[in-house]
Amino acid sequence: MNPAATPSLVVAVDGTSGSGKSSTSRGVAERLGLRYLDTGAMFRAMTWWLLREGVDVRDEAAVAAAAGRPTIESGTDPLAPTITVDGVDVSVEIRGEEVTSAVSPVSAVPEVRARLLELQREAIGAGGIVVEGRDIGSVVWPQAEVKVYLSADPDARAERRTAEQGGTDVASTQQSLLERDRIDSGRATAPLKIADGAVHVDSTHLTLAEVIDRIVDLAVQSSPEVRESS
Ligand code: DC
Repeated sequence: MNPAATPSLVVAVDGTSGSGKSSTSRGVAERLGLRYLDTGAMFRAMTWWLLREGVDVRDEAAVAAAAGRPTIESGTDPLAPTITVDGVDVSVEIRGEEVTSAVSPVSAVPEVRARLLELQREAIGAGGIVVEGRDIGSVVWPQAEVKVYLSADPDARAERRTAEQGGTDVASTQQSLLERDRIDSGRATAPLKIADGAVHVDSTHLTLAEVIDRIVDLAVQSSPEVRESS
């Protein structure tokens, strides 16, 4: 890794659930020698902690009152990203069904967003990073040199997500993805949308390698200092 060669570059990758943001963002970070931040994992970590504390995640006031308590830390190595809550690694736990079905309502609570926004901006710091989420190009880092909005049609997303999870029920995965899209796009604070200046990449008919190539090209064009790491 050689982040010193590209000190300030920020690549923002926003998009719907299951559009391939994580694999794409990690791949781009590896190719360019940049760090990687998964902001969805931060919302999931907050949700995991709330559930563990017995906070009713549908009670907005209770969630808002608790949002300042956990210490959430993200490790930004794209080859081995980590997420800890009060020092405990919860990388595996946050992918479970319980967290997945509660994370969208938790993410709609303004106090949760304000708390995590602060941590996200701190982690981005001086740049040299690929950041994935829903509101990176619109709210967290609108000045990002490269902004991408990644989408794929719902059938493709549900099939990919089901395969990733080793399941077989594509229809129920699709229903859960669409429900999360509905909440993520409809909330009042920082809804999922195409940020000003973002390039829309539809990954439905592209391979992962093709999507990564496209974003690496955008990054290289954005700054003469950006080079692929060997
Ligand atoms: O990318 P993901 O599926 O791990 O994200 C989990 C949830 O977190 C998603 O349903 C919406 C929320 N989220 C958000 O509101 N803002 C972000 N920047 C990232 C994720």
